[in-house]
Amino acid sequence: MTQKTANSAQPSIDSLASAYGTLPPVSVRSQRKPVSLPRLREMHQQGEKITMLTAYDATFAAVADAAGIECILVGDSLGMVCQGLTSTVGVSLETMRHHTECVANGLRRSQSTAWLIGDLPFGSYHESREQAFRSASVLMQAGAHMVKLEGGGWTTDIVRFLVERGIPVCAHLGLTPQTVHALGGYRVQGKTGESAALLKQHAHELQDAGAAMVVLEMVPAAVAAALTTELTRCATIGIGAGKDTAGQVLVLHDMLGINLGKMPRFVRNFMDDAGNVRGAMEAYVKAVKEGSFPVDALHAW
Ligand code: KIV
Repeated sequence: MTQKTANSAQPSIDSLASAYGTLPPVSVRSQRKPVSLPRLREMHQQGEKITMLTAYDATFAAVADAAGIECILVGDSLGMVCQGLTSTVGVSLETMRHHTECVANGLRRSQSTAWLIGDLPFGSYHESREQAFRSASVLMQAGAHMVKLEGGGWTTDIVRFLVERGIPVCAHLGLTPQTVHALGGYRVQGKTGESAALLKQHAHELQDAGAAMVVLEMVPAAVAAALTTELTRCATIGIGAGKDTAGQVLVLHDMLGINLGKMPRFVRNFMDDAGNVRGAMEAYVKAVKEGSFPVDALHAW
């Protein structure tokens, strides 16, 4: 059934987006293989950089997929960029469910191949592994292929519980924005020998528990590079963690240069030299794949 027949009352994502020159035709997109966990593992093992970008709605997600982004993260950063909050702490599971569903709908309608990751918000997995499973189920049923959760040590058991029950997990270490108040601000983590050793220990434990990916946010490039070599079954995805991670992630609004606050040092504004949003996303994909973004001297610690 074609998009038109299925949604005759409303314009398809295709007709809207191609009017703005943002999506290639369905016939081209449907030839691409879906990004799956085995495909991500293969990319990791072969040293092909993995690209990840946040998206919070159907159209941006479809455009990101068309630009060649492999992983779309419905991040709880939506609290800051969509809801105007000052941190991610106030984001609810219902809000994450809603945006995950919007993104999943957009990807489905545009016959996308991207891997969709839903972020578990603050308070939705902290009580027990059973609570974590219930919350993860909400995001998976909304269309996520994987869930992400923040923290190390206490999260290991939760990750194992989810993975054993068929939920792929992306961990998140270093600067974990949900604990910004405990950390005393958005600061680089793992700078001392002791904190770097703890971060590495947590990452190894998460790998052993079955986490397939780990986001490393704002950690020294040397620590992230060492971990990337050490972790053979868990792909490191850096944000402000230098150029040597297995992949990179950015917040959509940051890389489009429309951040409401101070632009983090680790960001590059890809709209500067691009004619449109899709062009900016394609430039990001190209720069990550060829290794020209990030530049350690400019974007890392
Ligand atoms: O919520 C988010 O967007 C994230 C990324 C910064 C990794 O967690």
